[in-house]
Amino acid sequence: MNELIATLRAGKSVFVLTGSGISAESGLPTFRGVGGLWRTHRVEELASPEGFARDPVLVWTWYNERRGAHERAQPNAGHFAMAQLEDVLDDFTLATQNVDSLHLRAGSRNVLELHGSLRQARCTHCSAGRSLGTAGLPLDEIDHACGGRWRPDIVWFGESLPQDVWQRAREAAARADVILVVGTSAVVYPAAALATNYNRRAFVAEINPEATPISNRVACALRGSAAQVLPRIVAALSSGETASPDLFVRPCG
Ligand code: APR
Repeated sequence: MNELIATLRAGKSVFVLTGSGISAESGLPTFRGVGGLWRTHRVEELASPEGFARDPVLVWTWYNERRGAHERAQPNAGHFAMAQLEDVLDDFTLATQNVDSLHLRAGSRNVLELHGSLRQARCTHCSAGRSLGTAGLPLDEIDHACGGRWRPDIVWFGESLPQDVWQRAREAAARADVILVVGTSAVVYPAAALATNYNRRAFVAEINPEATPISNRVACALRGSAAQVLPRIVAALSSGETASPDLFVRPCG
């Protein structure tokens, strides 16, 4: 931890990549974990343009339920720790794969939503946008006047990420002194590439109770939950204390 804290202290630029694991302690399911969304639902039916074309009512029913769950959930200590870290650093960028808005609700500002957000809908034909209330889109309003359909403004499998957001994330990852990878299985690309592919110089730390395909490519792996570990990093950074070593699999020197 000392090296991580020392690098964070000395570092000018920090990049954080988060996944659904950071929202697990807010009561939201992950995708591939036990009880994960893709264990209980067919991804091709719900998170693909083809699935939407086949059954938009099914898709909107599911996303409206998720939108409601996001609204009922509260940011946890992991989200708040990231907002605090941003306050004490000059150059801090948080790129999230999550569409639950919990980072923004925790007070994070420089947030890049790589996979979009469920606050918005977009027309499949004219690309018009509309904000969604906490109940999502009324099912009798799926058709848009232009002949298109309103769809969730998120990135589905096989679709490209929003280019401006992606570009900013790549640039922030490339200039970072420290990269924190929190609560992601690091199996979905291109987002996962931000952790290790654009910066050979950065000190990369992974925060995840479980190993991932990038665990052997990071400087240190902290095997704990986001809400447990992130506040300890922020506390150690601001108080100069060192955290007990029990969390480490790949010691941080
Ligand atoms: N704290 C930190 N990490 C956790 C926690 C926790 N409390 N609970 C679970 N995790 C970890 C799991 O060990 C797992 O590695 O979070 C990870 C969640 O992985 P996935 O379920 O694969 O979710 P994610 O990585 O966010 O998925 C990426 O895939 O389905 C698409 O678009 C969707 O954005 C999503 C993308």
